[in-house]
Amino acid sequence: MNITMIGSGYVGLVSGACFADFGHKVTCVDSDANKIARLLNGEIPIFEPGLDELVATNRRQQRLFFTTDLEPAVRNADAIFIAVGTPSRRGDGHADLSFVYSVATTIAESLQGFTVIVNKSTVPVGTGDEVERIIREIRPDADFEVVSNPEFLREGAAIEDFKRPDRVVIGTDDPRAREVMAEIYRPLNLNQPPLYFVGRRTSELTKYAANAFLATKITFINEIADLCEKVGADVQEVARGIGLDKRIGGKFLHAGPGYGGSCFPKDTLALLKTGQDNSAPLRIVETVVAVNDARKRAMARKVINALGGSVRGKKIALLGLAFKPNTDDMRDAPSLAIVASLAGDGADVHAYDPESMEQARPLMPEVTFHDDVYSTLESADALVIVTEWDAFRALDLERVKTLLKAPVIVDLRNVYRPADVRKRGFTYVSVGRV
Ligand SMILES: NC(=O)c1ccc[n+]([C@@H]2O[C@H](COP(=O)([O-])OP(=O)(O)OC[C@H]3O[C@@H](n4cnc5c(N)ncnc54)[C@H](O)[C@@H]3O)[C@@H](O)[C@H]2O)c1
Repeated sequence: MNITMIGSGYVGLVSGACFADFGHKVTCVDSDANKIARLLNGEIPIFEPGLDELVATNRRQQRLFFTTDLEPAVRNADAIFIAVGTPSRRGDGHADLSFVYSVATTIAESLQGFTVIVNKSTVPVGTGDEVERIIREIRPDADFEVVSNPEFLREGAAIEDFKRPDRVVIGTDDPRAREVMAEIYRPLNLNQPPLYFVGRRTSELTKYAANAFLATKITFINEIADLCEKVGADVQEVARGIGLDKRIGGKFLHAGPGYGGSCFPKDTLALLKTGQDNSAPLRIVETVVAVNDARKRAMARKVINALGGSVRGKKIALLGLAFKPNTDDMRDAPSLAIVASLAGDGADVHAYDPESMEQARPLMPEVTFHDDVYSTLESADALVIVTEWDAFRALDLERVKTLLKAPVIVDLRNVYRPADVRKRGFTYVSVGRV
């Protein structure tokens, strides 16, 4: 199959490289000329484990191409995937669909032969209808079908998720489009994930419902963590106790500083807007959004309390800035709110993250960045673990103690066992454990 991927970001680049690895010929297009130049130069503009090797192999084997030139890539495609961003629209939280619609307008002119146009971006119900209308208006003669195929990969484990998905949701009622989509995903048959064919609107809503449900799970365990602290229970043990129940499942039950990232915050807001617009308010999700917002600020207060009620003039060492480990993505990372609160209260914030500092720098001008863990800790009044990178799980605690001015650890990801750390003479504050 000839596949064109429009948008070569976290989703487009990973999906494009994986489709190429399946044996398809894939052209990844992006309007960001600098991104394409870097890719042509063999550089990977994002951090995603294994992606550099996957891209290099498929480029060498002449199955993966990069360009800013949309027209020829559209003309020759059997399927065109739209994988551009759908951020929150300022003001009302609705998904900003301007990038998606601009792609629809641009590709319409160049369509040739039967083409399946696949929306991989996360888009509200009805977006497929609108993409179809836009293209039809410009090219009444064109032979095309618009399909919804939301992406469920997780940054940091994106290649594995793409190649071994729990399911592939495909929204179309058209038999020809169904055949093309089945052929594109045929190499997955070996792993037997279900290709789950549904209507286009159902597919669009499935993605939002999945993200809202996962965000709810995280928020639920975070509130249980607060209760654990009050009543002397351990949230990790509670989470395991409920997670072993197959009806609940153990994933997404890690108490922490609240969900962030490029998807959950904007997708929960967009779903709320869809609910409001259709007179079907989603009160559970409304509460989840509000609780999660408050949580990020509460985490800064946790640090302030650990330091006796004030951080003015105190040096705080943050380990981890990305919204989760194994990514450099800083979009809506909890660290942003935590840094803003601490710096706003007069703290001198120092930080280290293995991958996200390039992205973090312009977002946190008040922070001093370091090249390694231990130089970040020198003379700090407290160490705060914000993202659970593996590298932070096995710190040399004796060295940490000699470097810190005061032996205080605030562990917002529960990576250490309280007894182990306290035994070494630290004041240790974590989430939902006493
Ligand atoms: N990042 C994730 O983990 C994830 C997971 C599942 C779904 N999604 C969804 O996938 C979509 C893309 O997300 P992302 O994280 O890859 O975004 P991203 O910002 O990393 O990438 C989007 C890319 O699209 C390019 N672009 C924008 N307009 C363009 C145009 N007209 N022509 C060509 N290129 C254009 C941008 O330059 C950018 O490189 C979003 O809807 C997101 O919600 C993301």
